[in-house]
Amino acid sequence: MAENKAPDPKQRQRAEAYAPDPAGGPMTTDQGVVVEHTDDALRAGERGPTLLEDFHFREKITRFDHERIPERVVHARGAGAYGYFEPYASCAEFTRAAFLQDPAVRTPVFVRFSTVQGPRGSADTVRDVRGFATKFYTSEGNYDLVGNNFPVFFIQDGIKFPDFVHAVKMEPHNEIPTGASAHDTLWDFVSLQPETLHTVMWLMSDRAIPRSYRMMQGFGVHTFRFVDAGGKGTFVKFHWKPKLGVHSLVWDEAQEVMGRDPDFNRRDLWETIEAGQYPEWELGVQLVPEQDEHQFDFDLLDATKIIPEEQVPVRPIGRMVLDRNPDNFFAETEQVAFCTANVVPGIDFTNDPLLQARNFSYLDTQLIRLGGPNFAHIPVNRPVVDVRNNQRDGYHQEEIHRGANYSPNSLGGGCPALGTVDEGAYRHLAERVDGVKIRRRSPSFEDHYTQAAMFWHSMADWEKRHIVDAFRFELGKVDAVPVRERTVEQLAHVDHELATAVAEGIGVAAPTRTSTPDPRPSPALSLVNNQGENTI
Ligand code: HEM
Repeated sequence: MAENKAPDPKQRQRAEAYAPDPAGGPMTTDQGVVVEHTDDALRAGERGPTLLEDFHFREKITRFDHERIPERVVHARGAGAYGYFEPYASCAEFTRAAFLQDPAVRTPVFVRFSTVQGPRGSADTVRDVRGFATKFYTSEGNYDLVGNNFPVFFIQDGIKFPDFVHAVKMEPHNEIPTGASAHDTLWDFVSLQPETLHTVMWLMSDRAIPRSYRMMQGFGVHTFRFVDAGGKGTFVKFHWKPKLGVHSLVWDEAQEVMGRDPDFNRRDLWETIEAGQYPEWELGVQLVPEQDEHQFDFDLLDATKIIPEEQVPVRPIGRMVLDRNPDNFFAETEQVAFCTANVVPGIDFTNDPLLQARNFSYLDTQLIRLGGPNFAHIPVNRPVVDVRNNQRDGYHQEEIHRGANYSPNSLGGGCPALGTVDEGAYRHLAERVDGVKIRRRSPSFEDHYTQAAMFWHSMADWEKRHIVDAFRFELGKVDAVPVRERTVEQLAHVDHELATAVAEGIGVAAPTRTSTPDPRPSPALSLVNNQGENTI
């Protein structure tokens, strides 16, 4: 008798993905005309030239020719999944955001994880930052938390982003390297722009080679604001903590995995969700009352700094579960459009100059990447609430609007916008802004070394060894000796022992300068301490 085996989830998924269209019927053109057959083009005689008249042939080839859209300018390679978020309790004390009020209400989400540097076809297990972008489809409109798996960023002001990305990406003359951040341009930039150092320390650590997207932290990075029903603001930093703990690959492992399976992280996410092992994260917040803004020895508006968890503990506020794979990679994972400016009532910005630049950049790039202003009509981007306004026309308009398209209007239709809406409307936090127009970095953004050193001193010995090895490997590929030397000089400001160990490995003189006094390590930064276990 045949054994009664449980259905193989992979086979089930394949059967579903390739199931015939239930509507059935013969092939048609885009205009709905039934096609005779699609294996031969129309030609003049059996061995004659193909005829221009063959509209099915021309349409088929044209549609194929136009299948590709530009990949994202950064974070081009990614994998996504759907799920839900639920708060543990009401956060009304700090924010009026509806999705953070009621533990009984689940808010649907779509999450896209990504690498940053490589193109769409690059490998997963490269040394790189990982994107962790979440779209919450809330009852008050879409909220996007567009974060990374590091809590800090390489630059302080968004005006440096094009410079930074040009330096990080493949070199312009030969497009090498396509999948790792090791070349002269990056290290040239790093050595000349010391604000990068803290995040570079993270990049050289095991955090930059996560074992799985399911085992990765996420951070909103910037200081944002919660705003309560009375209009009171509270500074907030967002943290995602994976239920499975934080785990990394070691370098040699990552190399081997990359060769054997360049889709390692993407496959892992897909297969575990298919198998019903749904990954889960806890959302935590660090909260700082507005009056404590200047209580730190760094600036809360500086995205190259963390708030040490010893100073402000992370407070868990909810959990997110990813339980459904997309049906079509292009339609959903490729066409999803996140933007830091997509906020809901109760969540607001700060004057962080990196965040302000991001608020402009995402929508701007999506106008070209997704072919015009109507990409919010694409199902994965569409809010679950009604959208009503006088925005009209443009490429790929899917709505059939009726009536007047201006406000105020007395004729009807469109969105007449009569008076001010009080209930449920987004209101920006009333913040006093005073200042002289100036193109200069605040002196409060000047310290680039203390937190980089804190990160280094927080590491276990084996984590330090991995960091030194990573610097030696990456800098060892740099041809320009002055770039190697300058980087080692910069590292000497972080820690003399670190700089000396790196110098020895890459054939440049050890630095003479001693480092600044050791800051207190932060236990929360080490992989060993992060979940109370050795997580490699
Ligand atoms: C894409 C995170 C800084 C411009 C992304 C994505 C993430 C991300 C996760 C991928 C979104 C997706 O999956 O579709 C971050 C973080 C930053 C940062 C955490 C710093 C804290 C910046 C800055 C700029 C910028 C400063 C520009 C001024 C972009 C652009 C894309 C992108 C243009 C491509 C978006 C698209 O094509 O849809 N970023 N980013 N990012 N980021 Fe950033």
